[in-house]
Amino acid sequence: MFKFVGFSGFKPLIFMMLVVVLLLSLLVSADEDAFIGVNIGTDLSDMPHPTQVVSLLKSQQIRHVRLYDADRGMLFALANTGIKVAVTVPNEQLLGIGQSNSTAAHWVAQNIVAHYPATNITTICVGSEVFNSLPNAAPVLVNALKFIQGALVASNLDRQIKVSTPIASTVILDSFPPSQAFFNHSWNPVLVPVLKFLQSTGSYFMLNVYPYYDYMNSNGVIPLDYALFNPLPSNKEAVDSNTLLHYTNVFDAMIDAAYFAMADLNVTNVPVLVTESGWPSKGDAKEPDATLDNANTYNSNLIKHIINQTGTPKHPGIPVSTYIYELYNEDTKPGSVSEKNWGLFDPNGNPIYTLQLTNAGRTFSNDTTNNTHCTAKEGADKKMLQAALDWACGPGKVNCSALLQGQPCYEPDNVVAHATFAFDSYYHMMGKGEGTCDFNGVAMLTTTDPSHGSCQFIGSDGMNGTFLNGSIADFNSTSSSSWRARGGYASGGLLIKVLLALLLS
Ligand SMILES: *[C@@H]1O[C@H](CO)[C@@H](O)[C@H](O)[C@H]1NC(C)=O
Ligand SMILES: *[C@@H]1O[C@H](CO)[C@@H](O)[C@H](O)[C@H]1NC(C)=O
Ligand SMILES: *[C@@H]1O[C@H](CO)[C@@H](O)[C@H](O)[C@H]1NC(C)=O
Ligand SMILES: *[C@@H]1O[C@H](CO)[C@@H](O)[C@H](O)[C@H]1NC(C)=O
Ligand SMILES: *[C@@H]1O[C@H](CO)[C@@H](O)[C@H](O)[C@H]1NC(C)=O
Ligand SMILES: *[C@@H]1O[C@H](CO)[C@@H](O)[C@H](O)[C@H]1NC(C)=O
Ligand SMILES: *[C@@H]1O[C@H](CO)[C@@H](O)[C@H](O)[C@H]1NC(C)=O
Ligand SMILES: *[C@@H]1O[C@H](CO)[C@@H](O)[C@H](O)[C@H]1NC(C)=O
Ligand SMILES: *[C@@H]1O[C@H](CO)[C@@H](O)[C@H](O)[C@H]1NC(C)=O
Ligand SMILES: *[C@@H]1O[C@H](CO)[C@@H](O)[C@H](O)[C@H]1NC(C)=O
Ligand SMILES: *[C@@H]1O[C@H](CO)[C@@H](O)[C@H](O)[C@H]1NC(C)=O
Repeated sequence: MFKFVGFSGFKPLIFMMLVVVLLLSLLVSADEDAFIGVNIGTDLSDMPHPTQVVSLLKSQQIRHVRLYDADRGMLFALANTGIKVAVTVPNEQLLGIGQSNSTAAHWVAQNIVAHYPATNITTICVGSEVFNSLPNAAPVLVNALKFIQGALVASNLDRQIKVSTPIASTVILDSFPPSQAFFNHSWNPVLVPVLKFLQSTGSYFMLNVYPYYDYMNSNGVIPLDYALFNPLPSNKEAVDSNTLLHYTNVFDAMIDAAYFAMADLNVTNVPVLVTESGWPSKGDAKEPDATLDNANTYNSNLIKHIINQTGTPKHPGIPVSTYIYELYNEDTKPGSVSEKNWGLFDPNGNPIYTLQLTNAGRTFSNDTTNNTHCTAKEGADKKMLQAALDWACGPGKVNCSALLQGQPCYEPDNVVAHATFAFDSYYHMMGKGEGTCDFNGVAMLTTTDPSHGSCQFIGSDGMNGTFLNGSIADFNSTSSSSWRARGGYASGGLLIKVLLALLLS
C-alpha cells in the first residue's frame, strides 16, 4: 500500500531532482558500462589448477573476476587473457599494511607491479568486510588505503587501478525506506575519511549485498519474490514515502540505501560497486529457500538487471557493476550447508544449474552465436591423426570413453571421426583458447557441428552452452589457501523493522 507519511509538498522533490541531475553528471563520468564479474573463492578440497580456472572463465566468457588474495598462480594464469582482475589484500595482512608505508609499497611491488599490465589488474580491495570480520583493524583502514594508493602513484598505476574496501551491507542501518538509511555511527570516525579517500581518488564504494540473508532474517516480512527480483503485485511494492520511489527488489533498495547513507555523510559522487551478491543453491532443513530454482532465479535476474543498465530507482541508468558470489561451490567452508553452495560450478567445471539468460547479453550465454568446432583436417596424414588422437585421449585428458565400442561415438569407426571427437572435446575443454585446435597442423576450425546421431559433441547446438566437463591436466593444486571471511552476516534487523512498518501500513 502506498504511504505518504513524510511527503511534504513539492519543494523536497524539486530539490531532489536537482541533486539527482548533479549526481548523474558526477557519477556518469566515473564509469562506462555495467559489468558482471565473478568471485573466485578457493575453499575447495579439490581446487582446480589456475589454468583450469582460467579455461572455465574463457569458456563462459567471464571477463571480470575478483580474487580473495593476490595468488601468484592465478595472476600468472590470468595474464594475456583480457580478463579484468580485482585482487584483495587479505584481512590478515591489513594491520601490517595499515601500519607501515613500506610494507604497503612492498605488497604493491610484489602483487601488482610484478603482474601489470600482462595481467589486467583494475582494482585492489583492501581487506574484506573489515568492520564485521576484523574490527580491530578498522582504525588503520584509511592508512592502508592511502599507503596502497601512494605506492600505485609512485608506480604510475593509480589511474589504471582503483583502490577501495568491500563493506557488508549490515553496516548500513535503517535500509528501508532507503532515503532514511545511515551508517552505523560507531564507524563514522573511519567511514568519513574512507569516503573522502574514495571521493578524492575517483574510486568506488564497494558493497556486499545479500538479499538472501535479508530475506532469511526477516521472518517472512520480506516476500521471497521481492528478494528474487520476481514481479510483485503492485499493492506489495515497496514505496519510499520520502522520495516516492518504487522498489521492486531488495537489491536496488540496498544500493540506494548505500547512496543515501553516503549522502548522510555529505558524500554524493562515489558510485557503488557490488563486490558480492548471490544465492545458495542448497541448504539444510533450516534453509528451505536455498534451492537450485531460487539460486538460478536470483542470479539470472541479477545478471539481466545489471546488464540492462537499469540502475536503481534513485539513480536510473547509473551502472551498478556486480561480482556474483561465486564461481565454485566451496565444500570446505565451515558453517551450514548453504555456506558451501553459493557456486555456479562444481570443481570439474560442471554447472550447478543452467542460468536462464535468453537475450541477456554475452555473459554466460549459451554462446550459440559463435559455435566453432575443431575437426580433423581433410586429407590429413592418418598416422599423425592417430598420434594426435592418442595424445588428446592420454596426456590431453580428454574423456574419450564415448569412442569405445558400444558407446555413442564409436561409429563411424575411423581415425578421422575419432580424432574429430577428441580434438573438439579438447578445444572446448581448453575454453577455445588460441592454439588449442592445431595438433601439429592436422586439426582445423569449422562452424559446422560435427555431432551425429546420439554422438553429441560438447558445445553442440541444443547443448547447454560451452560448459566444461572433465579435468584438463594433471596438476598440482594451488598453493596458498586464502584466508577470508564473508563476515558473519549479523542481522538485517533494522531493515526488517522498517520494512515491516511499511508493508503492514
Ligand atoms: C585493462 O582494462 C581496461 C578497462 O577495460 C582497459 O581500458 C585497458 O586497456 C586494459 N589494459 C590492458 C593492459 O589490457
Ligand atoms: C609512502 O610511500 C610512497 C611511495 O611508495 C610515498 O610517495 C609517500 O610519500 C609515502 N607516504 C608517507 C606518509 O610516508
Ligand atoms: C554498530 O556497530 C557497533 C560496533 O561494531 C556494534 O556494537 C553495534 O551493535 C552496531 N549497531 C547496530 C544497530 O547494528
Ligand atoms: C554535512 O553537511 C552539513 C551541512 O553543511 C553539516 O552540518 C554536517 O556537519 C556535515 N556532515 C558531515 C559528516 O560532514
Ligand atoms: C531493461 O530496461 C528497460 C528500460 O531501460 C526496462 O523497460 C526493462 O524492463 C528492463 N528489463 C529488465 C529485464 O530489467
Ligand atoms: C540456453 O539453453 C537453455 C537450455 O537449453 C535454453 O532454454 C535457452 O533458450 C538457451 N539460451 C539461449 C540464449 O540460447
Ligand atoms: C568466436 O570465437 C573465436 C575463436 O575462439 C574468437 O576468436 C572470437 O573472438 C569469438 N567471437 C565472439 C564474438 O565471441
Ligand atoms: C566420461 O564420459 C562418459 C560419457 O561419455 C561419462 O559417463 C563418464 O562419467 C565420463 N568420465 C569422466 C571421468 O568424466
Ligand atoms: C540443459 O540443462 C538442463 C538443466 O540442467 C537439463 O535439464 C537439460 O537436459 C540440458 N540440456 C542438454 C541438451 O544437455
Ligand atoms: C560431466 O562429467 C560427469 C562426470 O565427471 C558426468 O556425470 C556428467 O554427466 C557429465 N556431463 C556432461 C554434460 O557430459
Ligand atoms: C608438480 O610439482 C612438482 C614439484 O614442484 C613437479 O615436479 C611436477 O612436474 C608438477 N606437476 C605438474 C603436472 O605440474
